[in-house]
Amino acid sequence: MARRILVLHGPNLNLLGRREPHVYGTTTLADVEAGLRRRAEAAGATLESFQSNNEAELVARVQALLDAPVDFVIINPAAFTHTSVALRDALAAVKVPFIEVHLSNVFAREPFRHHSYFTDLAVGMICGLGPQGYLLALERALAQP
Ligand code: DQA
Repeated sequence: MARRILVLHGPNLNLLGRREPHVYGTTTLADVEAGLRRRAEAAGATLESFQSNNEAELVARVQALLDAPVDFVIINPAAFTHTSVALRDALAAVKVPFIEVHLSNVFAREPFRHHSYFTDLAVGMICGLGPQGYLLALERALAQP
C-alpha cells in the first residue's frame, strides 16, 4: 500500500512569503506544499497538507488519525510549538511517528522559542534550513521503516 504522509502547519504559516521574509523567506506555503507533493508522488506516496490558525482544528485533525491513520506526520506547529500541551497530547494519543520542522533556527531567536512541547516525542527535529527542512523530513518519512 502507498505510504500516507500528513503535513500539518500551524498558525500564520498561511502567510509564508509575506510574513517577516527576513526570517521566513519568500517561498509561499503553496510552493512548499507543491514541492512536497511532487516528491511524494514520485515516490508513490500520498501526501495531504493541512494548515490552521486554530488550535482546536489542529487537535481535531490529529485526533482523526485514530480512525483514519497515516504512516507519518510532518508538523510545523509554529507558535503552538511553544504553548500547546493540547496538540502535544493529541500526537501522543494517536502515537503516529512525526518530525517537527521549523523554517527558522528557533535556538538563535528569542528565549521563549527555545522550548518546544513536541521535540521529546518526535522522531527528530529540523530547524533553520528554511523550506528545505520539509523536504528533508519527507525523505525520512519515505524511508522510515
Ligand atoms: C516557526 C518558529 C516559531 O517560533 C514561530 O512561532 C513560527 C514559525 C518556524 O517555522 O521557524 O510561527 O515554527
